[in-house]
Amino acid sequence: EHIPVICVDGPTASGKGTLAAQLASQLGYHLLDSGALYRITALAAAQAGLALNASGEDAIANMAARLNIAFKNDQVWLDGAEVTEQIRLEATGMQASQVSALSKVRTALVALQHSFRRLPGLVADGRDMGTVIFPDAPLKVFLTASAEQRAQRRYKQLISKGNPTTLDSLRADLEARDARDMSRSASPLKPAQDALLMDNSNLSIEESVNQVLTWWQDKQ
Ligand code: C5P
Repeated sequence: EHIPVICVDGPTASGKGTLAAQLASQLGYHLLDSGALYRITALAAAQAGLALNASGEDAIANMAARLNIAFKNDQVWLDGAEVTEQIRLEATGMQASQVSALSKVRTALVALQHSFRRLPGLVADGRDMGTVIFPDAPLKVFLTASAEQRAQRRYKQLISKGNPTTLDSLRADLEARDARDMSRSASPLKPAQDALLMDNSNLSIEESVNQVLTWWQDKQ
């Protein structure tokens, strides 16, 4: 049976999460926030005291294959503890970028990601949804926005949640994370060959959502 998937890939803070969530809700589809899986894995690995580099790769991959996670409404749970806020910290994002460069960790999370593909459909956001995880997806969107816009958006997000930060340190973090995500050998961040590119620097959320919905209708 063919279950439709819309992939939304792109760099950090390009607005993928917001776009994907709105698409899923408007279409009544399931949602996969694949970045959350890497964030949870990083958190679990750090809590277990594992090295977040090649020397911890096997142990982290084992752990990733057995993650006891649950998504409930807007909450994320790991081993019975709510970790919603913790996984959104910028520090956890950086750790996620480190563990996500380990190919065995990526492989360990493939089956879990595929399990989100259920009727009536799925909207999946991340870095390699269109290139590696759902290569047969009928619609792949590669979302970009200027580095300045992305830093500003992430800044507002973090400040509104009470996490103190500065625009300069955020911009530096985003650039470091993008560079690592694009240059790694395992599933690097890049548009799929059949992806449609969308720069949302000057688009509202509503305009971005409507653009993708139009593309989706054109595919039907
Ligand atoms: O999207 P988000 O910022 O939550 O992702 C955190 C990190 O997880 C990214 O910087 C990236 O290194 C990694 N990631 C990935 N592949 C995905 C989703 C996220 O490598 N599909």
